[in-house]
This record gives sequence, C-alpha cells and structure tokens, in this order.
Amino acid sequence: MKILAIESSCDETAAAVVEDGVKVYSNVIASQIAIHQATGGVMPEVAAREHIKVIMPTIELAISQAGVSWNEIDAIAVTKEPGLIGSLIVGRITAAAVAFAKDKPLIEVNHIHGHMYAGWLESETLPEFPILILTVSGGHNELVLMRGHGEFEILGETIDDAAGEAFDKIARLLKLGYPGGPIIEKTAVLGNSKAVKFPRALKGDYDFSFSGLKTSVLYHLQANEAKLDNPSFVADVAASFQSAVIDSLVEKLMKGVVEFSPKEIHLSGGVSANKALRGEIESQLKKLKNVAHFRVPKKMSYCTDNAAMIGAAAYFLGKSSCDDLESSTSKVTS
Ligand code: KG4
Ligand code: ZN
Repeated sequence: MKILAIESSCDETAAAVVEDGVKVYSNVIASQIAIHQATGGVMPEVAAREHIKVIMPTIELAISQAGVSWNEIDAIAVTKEPGLIGSLIVGRITAAAVAFAKDKPLIEVNHIHGHMYAGWLESETLPEFPILILTVSGGHNELVLMRGHGEFEILGETIDDAAGEAFDKIARLLKLGYPGGPIIEKTAVLGNSKAVKFPRALKGDYDFSFSGLKTSVLYHLQANEAKLDNPSFVADVAASFQSAVIDSLVEKLMKGVVEFSPKEIHLSGGVSANKALRGEIESQLKKLKNVAHFRVPKKMSYCTDNAAMIGAAAYFLGKSSCDDLESSTSKVTS
C-alpha cells in the first residue's frame, strides 16, 4: 500500500511516498530554517505563509521523485496535531483537497505518533513489541511504552520545556543561532562537560523538566557576561548543558528499561540526531548488559520533522480503516 504523506506542523513543509510503512520512495523536505534564523526562532505567522507557498510544489516533487503516478497512490496521510495551528491548517486543508480531487482516502495522524514510527522506516526486520520509545523534540518530550500498534502507554512527559526547546533557548543565550540542537552539539565537542555542574531535574518518576536547568544556565551566563565572547567559555557551557540534558533523558530511559524489560528501545524526534545522546544510551545499555535492540531512525532526515514518518504511522495505525479502501473515506488515528 503506497501512501502519500504530508507534514507541516512547524517549520518544515514535507511530503513523502512510503510503501507499507517501511519502504521510502521519496522524502522531500522544504526547510524554513534560513527564514527563521533571522528571528532566532519560528514565527508562527511567517511559517504558515511559507507552507502555503511551497506545499503544492513539495507534494508534486515527492510524487515525481518517487517515480509513481497518482493512480498508484492508495491513500493520503497528513499530520493532524499537535503543532502550530496555522501551519497545521495549511497541511490539513491541502491534504483534504488533494484527497478529494484525486479520490483517495485521507488518514490523519498525530505528529508524535509519526516520530514514534520513524524507527520503522527502512527497517530490514520489523520492530518487536514491547518497545520503550523516548521521543525528544522541540515541542514534545515523552517516554512511551508501546505494546502494539496504537497501544501507547505514556510513562512520562515534560512538565515544562521539551529538551529540544531547551537546546534552542540556550543556543540563543549563547548567541549561537537557530536551531540550537545541532549548533550546541557541535560546540560541545570543543568543551568540557564537567566545567559547570548544572542541575539534573526530577529524579524519581518518569516525567521530565528542563526549565530549572535553563534558569541555572541563564544565571551562570548573567554572572559571567564578560566571558560570552570567549569561545572556550561558550564551549564549556554548551558541553555542560548538553551533558545535563542527556543525563536527565537517559536516567528516565534506563529506569524504564529496568522496570519493563522491553524487547526494543527506540530513540526518536529531532534531538535523536544528537550523537552524544545516542552514545550515552548505548554505553548505559552495555553497563546494564541489556540485549534489547536499540534503534535510532535510519537517516538523520527521519529524526527531525519529515513526512515519511507520517506515512509509516498512517500505514500501521490507519491500516485497518484502509483495508477496504473502497468504503474508507476518512480515519482519525490520534
Ligand atoms: O522533531 P523536530 O524536528 O520538531 C518538533 O517536533 O519539535 O525537533 C526539532 C528540535 C529542535 O529543538 C532542534 O534544536 C532539535 O530538535 N535538534 C537537536 C539536534 N538536531 C535537532 N537537538 C540536539 N542535538 C541535535 N543534533
Ligand atoms: Zn516533530
């Protein structure tokens, strides 16, 4: 079953053609990063207007790069929520119009479910349940136990900022630019992660919190304002901050590994692109002598927002409604 998937929840306009939730024929991403760099973050109104400009060309490109005709597309999938309201509306209205015009069923997908299915893309062997999934993005941060398709038990989530949002905000304070995650990761390599002892929040349960860490970094920078032009000071703060985020994330993940003994452990969302985070999870699993299959998305482009993951989630979550494509017109999976 070939699905044309559309994603526009934040600042990437994306379209992809995915077969059976695994095989990616095309994955086109029109990024707005260059536009939002000027303001140091995403301006919702600007993002929505950009989506309007590029969404149809992005869809056409996804179809042509996939080398398929519209006749071969079995269904259209689109991100329903969560996200920036204006950005979401552009994607949903476009998807509904295309589904109507091409006479295809429409499958609406929760964006976070999309991230959780990024580990399925291009997998040689399909993941086995139960799976413990740590999804870490700019807008959300969850630890989920997945016992089957559509069976999501949220063990914990952020009570304030998501980890990616904290990366973006600290990068702004350090005057490193946007988006913060990749720049902080690059800068942190040059610094000492033990230079500043920032707090690790909420030991005990499965929820996450990064606002205390953010405030602590802010106070440290206010007390050392004169050093902000010193690259080694900035690198030390970046490394120490990144290490505090990683420790908080990995502590909860390992707690879940011990408590639930999952068959697989998946890391997804924009922050899953972070190599230091991946490395720390691998080393902690080794320490625990845990043999669960640890998966990260096969490509960096499947970590951050993309439409291929929406196509995967649509297939596995909306599949039952599309088994009879003749009678199926719409399915909301969130
Ligand atoms: O999943 P995503 O593309 O969008 C949301 O659904 O929010 O995640 C974007 C977030 C941004 O906050 C960005 O700074 C972060 O992912 N990010 C990273 C890295 N690459 C992207 N954070 C840490 N290290 C990275 N390499
Ligand atoms: Zn996302």
